[in-house]
Parts: sequence; C-alpha cells; structure tokens
Amino acid sequence: MEQYAIKGGNPLVGEVEIGGAKNAALAILAASIMTDETVLIENMPDIRDTNVMMHAIESIGGSVEKLDRHTVKISGKSVRNMAIEDDSVKKIRASYYFLGAMLGKYKRAQVTLPGGCNIGLRPIDQHIKGFRALGADVRIEHGLVIAEAAHLHGSHIYMDVSSVGATIDVMMAAVMADGQTIIENAAKEPHVVDVANFLNSLGAVIKGAGTDVIRIRGVRRLHGTEYAIIPDQIEAGTFMFAAAVTKGDVTVKNVIPKHLESISAKLNEIGCEVEESDDAVRVVAAKPLTHTHVKTLPYPGFPTDMQPQITVALGLSRGTSIVTESVFENRFKYVDELTRMGASIKVEGGNTAIIDGVNRYTGASVSAPDLRAGAALVIAALSAEGISVIDDIKFIERGYEDFHIKLKSLGAQIEKVDSERELQKFRLKTG
Ligand code: UD1
Repeated sequence: MEQYAIKGGNPLVGEVEIGGAKNAALAILAASIMTDETVLIENMPDIRDTNVMMHAIESIGGSVEKLDRHTVKISGKSVRNMAIEDDSVKKIRASYYFLGAMLGKYKRAQVTLPGGCNIGLRPIDQHIKGFRALGADVRIEHGLVIAEAAHLHGSHIYMDVSSVGATIDVMMAAVMADGQTIIENAAKEPHVVDVANFLNSLGAVIKGAGTDVIRIRGVRRLHGTEYAIIPDQIEAGTFMFAAAVTKGDVTVKNVIPKHLESISAKLNEIGCEVEESDDAVRVVAAKPLTHTHVKTLPYPGFPTDMQPQITVALGLSRGTSIVTESVFENRFKYVDELTRMGASIKVEGGNTAIIDGVNRYTGASVSAPDLRAGAALVIAALSAEGISVIDDIKFIERGYEDFHIKLKSLGAQIEKVDSERELQKFRLKTG
C-alpha cells in the first residue's frame, strides 16, 4: 500500500503551478456528453476523480481521447446507455452530475447513489427536488437513482440550502428544458460559474451564475466547444497554507487571486504576508503565527474544503483559536490523527474545534481519513520534527495532481513509498 514518508522541518520555498479546478472539471466532464459534437477541454487535472469520470463516459458509449496530460477531447455522439453503475463511480460524489447531464439531454438517467468523502450526511434531496420541479419522475431503487421525463419544462426552484452540487446538477438538467428556469438561493462558488460558462460555450443560455439567482432559457440543442477549466482554488489554498505552516515563502502561480480572497484574508490575520499579482499569489511566513477564529461558509466565505488546512496552521499559532464548521456535520475526524502529532484540539458538538496552539508538531504515523484532511496531515507532517508516515494516500490522490512532486520542488523531504524497505531507505537517506 502506498504511503507518503515525510521528514519535516524544511520551509517550503519557491514557485508552484496550480492545475485545473477538480470540482469544475468533474461537472464539465459530465456536461460534455450533452452535445453530439466534439468538446475539447484544456487544463483538465490528471487526478483519480477526473479519470473515474472519463471511464464512466466510456462505459456508456462516449469517446474520450487524451491529447496530452491536461487536454481531452470528448464526444457524446455514440452514448447509448443511460445507466452508470460502474463500481468506481460509487466512490465519487460527482457521479451525481451524470444525472443532470443525461436527464437534460436524453430525458433519462440511472446512476448509482453517489459516495465521496465521508464528511457527514450528504443527501441529494435538493437535486431530486429540482429535477422533479422540471417535470422528471425520480426514484431510488436498488441503490440507483433513476430519473426520467417525457419532456422537461422550465420551473422556478428555490434551493433550501446553498448546494454546489444541486445548483450545477439542476442547471444542467434545465439547459435543454422548454422555457425558462429560475434557481433561487443558488450556490455562488467559482466552479458554478465555470460550469455555466462551459455550458454557455456549448450554446446554453444561462445568466446570473455567481449570484444567488440563476436564470436559464432552454435551448433545443448544444454544439461543440473548446474550453479551459479555471484554476483550482483549493489546491492553491493548500499550498498557501503549506507555506504558512512551514514558515516558508511560496508563490502559487496560475491562480485567480479573487477566488482566494477569504484564504488570503485569514493568512493575513494569522501573521503571513500575502502579495497578489494578476495570476499569482505569494505567501511569506516570516513571523510567528497568531490565533484567529474562522467559520466555514459557502462562497465567498471561507471554504469548508480549506477547514482542515487552516486548523493545522492554527494548531501551531500562539493563543486559542476556534474553527466552526457550518457546511458539513462530520468534518473533524482527522483531529485524532493530528493529536498524534502533538496538536492540542478539542472538538465540541461535532462542529466546533477549540485549538490551543502548540510550538511544534512531532512526526507520527497517521492515516488520511479523506481528501482535504489527508492534504492537511501532509502539511502538518512537513512542519513536524522528525519523520511521519501518511497512510491511505489514495484519498489525497483523488484531488491533488503530483502532490508530493510539487511539494518536493518547493524543498519538502517527501517520498511516495510502497514497502517497508522503501520506507527504511527514506529513513536512512533523511537521517
Ligand atoms: C461540493 C464539493 C465539495 C465541497 C462542497 C461544499 C464536488 C464534487 N464536491 O460537494 O468538495 O466540500 O461542495 O463547497 O464539487 N445538501 C443537502 N441536500 C442536497 C445537497 C446538499 O442538504 O441535496 C447539504 C449538504 O449536506 C451540505 C451542504 O448542503 O451540508 C452543501 O453541500 P454541497 O454544496 O451540495 O456539497 P457537494 O456538492 O456534496
């Protein structure tokens, strides 16, 4: 089983290129089968979840051609099968995007109930409510979500919670419905806007993405396009916090600084300098970190996907900090692992962490419980005294391309190891 072996203590210094946004890419991949013409997508991150989505497209008869590592050509012309039951799809949350995409185009979809990171209950009631409002019959049978409609019609839909997934899914289903759809209390995340821009480039008519009211005028058909995915806000934020925690100086390149504002603001508050330019952000952590409070919120608030990373930083910050998780109900499971590295964190009521900053972490053997928490444990290990071993890195590889290679290029001592022998070698090498 692959693991990361990490010897902490080196400040991360240098420049790192950020890839395409995972959460935009997953929806865009599903949406690309909504046209019979060819779609060329650039800046596609080469990570486990996007590859699972591409296999799923092939499993229903679509064609996927990788032109290079980050450019893919997709054609949905030969899609015949409306059932996605692939076992690997079960493990990823974004499989629900095939529901909206296939229902929108073919008026029928059958997809295994989605899985994904185990960070709390993750219902899809808002997706289903939206599909039903558009005229679909939706039922769950034998672990499958089955949605079908004779035809779809525009509707006025109010989302009970701000949900990225439901907003995108319903937007996709509505693109080819008859008449106008209005989605109220829509999610405003950058990837919602990116998916809307992608769909518009296929000929859809979507207005208001990025605000909480999205208006969609249905069209009869969609055409081909060439499209480049936006940079990944969370990958960028992860490297920004890696710089903070290791007392480093890192420039994250190929980013949209506006998408990083809540992250930059918190880094400033805890004592880091953040310099923005057109498409890069530099984080310099020259002073000791100080405490702050943070509550995760839908965009433009502080992202829940950055909660474990900021908790790791606050664990090393002078004073007492409070982190409140308001998006998911079970997102502090990694705290036990961080405690093994010497953190002093108490979780109350499942969604509040009270953190007493310690001077240093110490290396330990820990497991990545999910994608973002896994990345946060890696960051903690990079700052820790001694060697850490991170298990279950398959979770991390779901969402970070070449994570250890990028960290290494910034001066981290990190290797992917696959056996006790390789781990021993790492121990000897890093002394
Ligand atoms: C997406 C992201 C995930 C991120 C999250 C919040 C993908 C593949 N995943 O997940 O990385 O952490 O947005 O930014 O893009 N909810 C309902 N009913 C629903 C849908 C959601 O009650 O039908 C609730 C959820 O339980 C959660 C909140 O709404 O409490 C937000 O969830 P949502 O934005 O939908 O997250 P995901 O799409 O699952």
